[in-house]
Amino acid sequence: MTGPADEPARLLASWHDNAAAWTAAVRSGAIESRRLATDAAILAAVLDRRPRQVLDLGCGEGWLVRALAQRGVAALGVDGSAPLVEAAARAGGSFARLSYAELVAAPERCGAGFDLVVANFALLEEQILPLLAALRRIMTANGFLLVQTLHPLAAGPPYEDGWRTEDFRGFGDAAWTPMPWYFRTLGSWLGVLRAAGFALHDLREPSHPKEGRPLSLLLEACVSTQGDLSCP
Ligand SMILES: C[S@@+](CC[C@H](N)C(=O)[O-])C[C@H]1O[C@@H](n2cnc3c(N)ncnc32)[C@H](O)[C@@H]1O
Repeated sequence: MTGPADEPARLLASWHDNAAAWTAAVRSGAIESRRLATDAAILAAVLDRRPRQVLDLGCGEGWLVRALAQRGVAALGVDGSAPLVEAAARAGGSFARLSYAELVAAPERCGAGFDLVVANFALLEEQILPLLAALRRIMTANGFLLVQTLHPLAAGPPYEDGWRTEDFRGFGDAAWTPMPWYFRTLGSWLGVLRAAGFALHDLREPSHPKEGRPLSLLLEACVSTQGDLSCP
């Protein structure tokens, strides 16, 4: 029997099983929403902030770290999937294999002084408050956090927090292991960001260039001091 308590372990295990298929899908441009909108959106959002030291949380096979390096921005990618981190390192760049649980226990294991942390479709668990609070401790006082996640209209109903399953239909013909992931409403995102010590600065909704339908939510938050609800 499996239940919600098992979902985080199944989630991370799926990224072990799916590492080769995921790497091939990302690098071949097989995922339409990424090709058409969301890759460019997250890259632009990071570059707009002119960061000095970026942490790419849940970096996968490392495309964003490499894209930033090509533009002269230093970035470290961390991910809990050993085969994905190995694929990332083989393609070049700075990477570390660390699970979110390990980061919660000792965030300084990936360094400190990050003025930007980016999580591109990588905050997939229910309990993300301890992770966000731990990351805040290794960020600069004026640091920013960028989170891109599936848009509620793209995710479909019901519009309520809860575990769902991604079967990777439409991601290519490989044999995928289904991935549990936790959908949260906009209010839930704001609540967890605030509770972890961040204030929302901006919200973008990258959309399909021809059809106009929103594909993702891109939340831009800053480290908030003394409970400030606005960013400098
Ligand atoms: C959808 S992929 C996104 C990868 C990358 N950010 C990108 O844009 O291609 C989600 C990533 O989050 C990582 N991840 C999920 N849960 C994790 C956990 N508990 N600890 C560490 N990494 C985790 C997975 O290994 C996977 O690489």
